Amino acid sequence: MDKRSLCLLLICINLCLVIWLVSVQQSPMLEAEIITDSSGSGSSSGSGSISSTPQPPNSANGLRRSRSKPNQIYQPSRTPSNNDSSSLVSNTFDNHLGTPPSLASQTPSPPGSSMHLMDLPNFVYLIDQPACDKDVRVLILVHSAVKNVEKRRLIRETWANRSYIDQTPLRVIFLVGGVGPNSEEWQQFLGRENHMHGDLIQGNFRDAYRNMTYKHVMALKWFNEKCEHAQLLVKVDDDVFMNTPQLVKYLATPDLPENSMLQDPDLMLCRVVRHSRVKRSYRSKWRVTYKEYPHRFYPEYCPGMAIVYGPDVVRRLYEAAQKSKYFWVDDVLITGILAEETASKITPMKYYLESKDVYNLLNGDADLEDPPFLFTNHAIKPDESMAIWQMALDRIQRPLLTHPAYSSPSAASKSAQIVPSAIISEAAQTSSTALS
Ligand SMILES: *[C@@H]1O[C@H](CO)[C@@H](O)[C@H](O)[C@H]1NC(C)=O
Ligand SMILES: *[C@@H]1O[C@H](CO)[C@@H](O)[C@H](O)[C@H]1NC(C)=O
Ligand SMILES: *[C@@H]1O[C@H](CO)[C@@H](O)[C@H](O)[C@H]1NC(C)=O
Repeated sequence: MDKRSLCLLLICINLCLVIWLVSVQQSPMLEAEIITDSSGSGSSSGSGSISSTPQPPNSANGLRRSRSKPNQIYQPSRTPSNNDSSSLVSNTFDNHLGTPPSLASQTPSPPGSSMHLMDLPNFVYLIDQPACDKDVRVLILVHSAVKNVEKRRLIRETWANRSYIDQTPLRVIFLVGGVGPNSEEWQQFLGRENHMHGDLIQGNFRDAYRNMTYKHVMALKWFNEKCEHAQLLVKVDDDVFMNTPQLVKYLATPDLPENSMLQDPDLMLCRVVRHSRVKRSYRSKWRVTYKEYPHRFYPEYCPGMAIVYGPDVVRRLYEAAQKSKYFWVDDVLITGILAEETASKITPMKYYLESKDVYNLLNGDADLEDPPFLFTNHAIKPDESMAIWQMALDRIQRPLLTHPAYSSPSAASKSAQIVPSAIISEAAQTSSTALS
């Protein structure tokens, strides 16, 4: 054999090896080895210290994690502390496969069953919630990272406060992923948090920056399977302030144009991004390789911080996502690429509360409803969030104080804590005219 053919043979063997490697190892798994930031989520800005809530010691970081099998980051315990979630998880299995979680996570399920999430064959909810009851009209799913305890606390104190939300047709749930290995304390912590508030859903994919797409598709899935009768799904990040009273007002006021807009089952409402150039710089945290996305520009898409979906869009996007190749930029994939594929159109949102508007509002130079907004921009500060919520609450409660049912002082002070549902829609209907 001469030198030339030996060379050719070697090249051939190498090529085969590369092809085999590429086909055996799915691309997200390759990425997974590079990025091991365990605290990452869409909202990574200013995480703040965790103080008041009981918390586990610092968990081991991603770099030291053992080489676990893909998709099996956490085995559901047979004796979880929260019996609600355990019964729900096993119910899921009883309904679909009749196998306990520990067995099921070893046998791959057929595609199309509810046990896969995109390319994850053994998807389960480690913490789950009961399905929506029929009065829920809007499901708000807040993307959070496991360790964003303070952000969840702030949201529960402000715009998702139960004493308010439970009187409205809204429901708020936080979505998290799995804690890595060596983070049992965090898992227990989440169990306690959920026991206290009953508002967490946890998927068994690892909570990581490059896994955000799983979380987003999990949101679509959960809505589809447990809340499909609702009028809207809202997806927000945990550092956004959502003006829930404004949404309640839109729902309760038939003559507002927003009321009919929000009834469109094909709605996809957000602050649309156009002509966004794909980041290729090696220094960028957002760097996307040509293999991940080959074009120069992204299609029109909705930034993930705040998106309002109608139920038909959710169904279409979920079905398309289940068949789609994994791409870690979740908002681009779901509201851009898959939306285009399923002919789902974006409705641009008119008003957003920008930083300067927050400033003006808190200085008394602007009115809460002029213009009315549903969401603030990213990364609102906790004190700003508190202040805006207080303004929104005052707005709801002012008409109450003059309402005949609240003429006695004791009743009026009571109303500051719990707002009767009958009054809310009434307040919503009068607030724009009576209060300006
Ligand atoms: C556990 O389940 C039982 C029956 O399903 C229920 O009565 C009880 O309140 C639950 N306990 C907790 C801590 O959720
Ligand atoms: C909801 O608001 C009430 C009254 O402002 C407050 O006492 C309560 O702690 C809040 N709930 C949560 C979960 O923070
Ligand atoms: C994403 O989740 C999968 C499944 O749990 C896991 O194997 C992978 O390592 C995760 N990716 C990152 C970047 O952590």
